[in-house]
Amino acid sequence: MTARIIGTGSCLPEAIVTNDYLSTIMDTSDEWISSRTGIKERHLVKEETTASLSLEAGRRALAEAGVAPEELDMIIVGTLTGDYITPSTACEVQAGLGAVNAVAFDINAACAGFLFSLHTVNAYIQCGMCRTALLIGAETLSRIMDWGDRSTCVLFGDGAGAAVVQAQEGGLIAYDQGSDGEKGKYLACRNRTNNNPLVQTEKNYSYTQMDGQEVYKFAVTYVPNSIHKVLEKAGLQPEDIKYYLLHQANLRIIQAVAKRLKISLDRFPISLDHCGNVSAASVPILLDDVNRKGMLQKGDKIILSGFGGGLTWGTCLIEW
Ligand code: UT7
Repeated sequence: MTARIIGTGSCLPEAIVTNDYLSTIMDTSDEWISSRTGIKERHLVKEETTASLSLEAGRRALAEAGVAPEELDMIIVGTLTGDYITPSTACEVQAGLGAVNAVAFDINAACAGFLFSLHTVNAYIQCGMCRTALLIGAETLSRIMDWGDRSTCVLFGDGAGAAVVQAQEGGLIAYDQGSDGEKGKYLACRNRTNNNPLVQTEKNYSYTQMDGQEVYKFAVTYVPNSIHKVLEKAGLQPEDIKYYLLHQANLRIIQAVAKRLKISLDRFPISLDHCGNVSAASVPILLDDVNRKGMLQKGDKIILSGFGGGLTWGTCLIEW
């Protein structure tokens, strides 16, 4: 038995912020953002929270799967922007759904968070500790952006995507994941500083800082390697895959990966144009997009890949 996805859902905040709007409040332009990244607009929260977006995405995934909240025995949320340090976003979702039989916890693997969640639940399923689970990738990244730093704030957005998985034959065929903590400094956001009586540091709620070029180099080398490893484990060729659903950080990264795999860009669906980079939520939002457009048929082989802060990466091959 492995984890098979049986329903998807997503939820984006109501407010849409275009590149043109950003160019009225900072020194940037639609031309710079579109040509460097492919991003045209992103959704940003006003009233919504990481938990409220997660809950709605989760409800939609459960409705599509035809699964009742009480049937869930696990809820995992991949996020680095939970509303609280504790309780976890997953516990908030559990309460909101009334999923009384589910154990709930978050995973922080940044942009690979949904993939790490899927691989984790797969391991639980394989050892018989879980049968039906709700996985969510959710972020309110706009809270941890320095809106005076045009090199980062224009790239990211807010949103949530979800999938219901069930123990079945088939499903998750092969996976690869890894971390390179030595490169962690290239994409970092410090937690609050310590203010205990022995330290008394200045209060500092720092914001996200990224060395874009280092992360770019990491992505265009590690991601194709990870995809090749997964294909090799499954005994398949790149052309056997119907769609490659990659973390939506930058269109140029996706083009570079397609080129390395010698696969047409048509097989790489895109959501970054209207969502920006939503970290752990990127892959499940894109999966829900593709699913709801009716682009997936039973038996299709799909590759999902997330990569980013940590630095971390996770790739898997699933059968629809
Ligand atoms: O989700 C985690 C994974 N993250 C990623 O994968 C991100 C990977 N990296 C990237 O996508 C790209 O490196 C960026 C899109 C972040 C940046 O693109 P770049 O081609 O590496 O640009 P750059 O950082 O080298 O900046 C080029 C110029 C600089 O000006 P000078 O020094 O050449 O005069 C920047 O100051 O562009 C300037 N710049 C901007 N100009 C207008 C930086 N941000 C902006 C902006 N608007 N928003």
